[in-house]
Amino acid sequence: MKPVKVADGVWWVGAVDWDTRNFHGYSTMRGSTYNAYLIIDDKITLIDTVKAPFFNEMMARVSEVVDPAKIDIVVSNHVEMDHSGALPLLMEKLPRAAVYTSPQGEKGLRLHYKQDWDFHTVKTGDVLNIGRRNLAFVSTPMVHWPDNMLTYCPEEKILFSNDAFGEHLASAERFADEVSLGVVEEEAAKYYANIVMPYGAQTQKALAAAAGLDIGIIAPSHGLIWRRDVPTVVGWYKKWSADQPENKAVVVYDSMWHSTETMALRVGDALERAGVPAKMCNLKTTHVSDIMTAVLFSKFIFVGSPTLNNGIMPTVSQFLTYLAGLAPKNRVGFAFGSYGWGGQSVGIVDKIMREAGVEMLDSVRIQYIPDEAQLQSLSAHVEQGVRPYLGTSQTE
Ligand code: FEO
Repeated sequence: MKPVKVADGVWWVGAVDWDTRNFHGYSTMRGSTYNAYLIIDDKITLIDTVKAPFFNEMMARVSEVVDPAKIDIVVSNHVEMDHSGALPLLMEKLPRAAVYTSPQGEKGLRLHYKQDWDFHTVKTGDVLNIGRRNLAFVSTPMVHWPDNMLTYCPEEKILFSNDAFGEHLASAERFADEVSLGVVEEEAAKYYANIVMPYGAQTQKALAAAAGLDIGIIAPSHGLIWRRDVPTVVGWYKKWSADQPENKAVVVYDSMWHSTETMALRVGDALERAGVPAKMCNLKTTHVSDIMTAVLFSKFIFVGSPTLNNGIMPTVSQFLTYLAGLAPKNRVGFAFGSYGWGGQSVGIVDKIMREAGVEMLDSVRIQYIPDEAQLQSLSAHVEQGVRPYLGTSQTE
């Protein structure tokens, strides 16, 4: 369990979770890491901890650098248990250590662990001297919990960014420049889409607050550390949080007897003829968290469901619930589907998407099996529907 040197006196002492494949509904097919950082100074400081089952792994790495009993300060940038879960076990060994966190962080940690630790609350502008170094705190509420904050060490030019700028990616490498940038971008985008997307405005504020910092290294709490290419990941976040998706589409659907699927394929074809690249997402084979990565980049979200038991397919219901929670902004939607007699599904999809803030084209439903004339009409409807929007987005 080797620690990894981030800078002189600054060590990664986190844990690699090679096995996790489901992070409360988010499919983490490449695993994850929980990153904690140890700073050796007059006051020995640990920034964040790890998920509780990885406590021993973290402590083994800390022990390679220093006797863990010598830790004076624990900074908790975020209450969520993938970063604070090991805190109670740690504090059993460090009863006199101080815990620095935001006011909401103290509240959340007390509610989680029912412990009266030596809490010190900090906010934007507060600076803690730990010896040769200082730690400056920046509150970043709702990126993505109320308690979130960043910790910046000016002497090392390191931003400990917690969830921001991270990705669920287990690897033997610790630095982003040691791994294919395409893989890192894919996982960082998936992370943003599935965790941070509802909070684009708050992310923009956090980026503005961090803009005044001279950042040489970004050390997030998941995935890889950025010691080169810092502007690259900051640029990704600027772009994603602007909520200005590209002229691309996701066509999400499920089908019973292939009629809605036939409609979906024709919808995708019509989009391409309108100049809109379309990603086809069959819910029988595509995980909702992967669809959300495509949604991040797509202005158009088109959803098809047949009518099943007077409602929609359970897979479509799951996707729409997930979509509504992540609340992508500035999107255009379209509901379509086949039906036998009741025909409620298309109206239900349309209603859910409108309530989620998606601007909807007029929906289309077709009884039983679509014929060629109906499919041509559907194609024309889609092509005409998207054209007015094509001048208003980025296109790559
Ligand atoms: Fe990685 Fe919000 O916890």
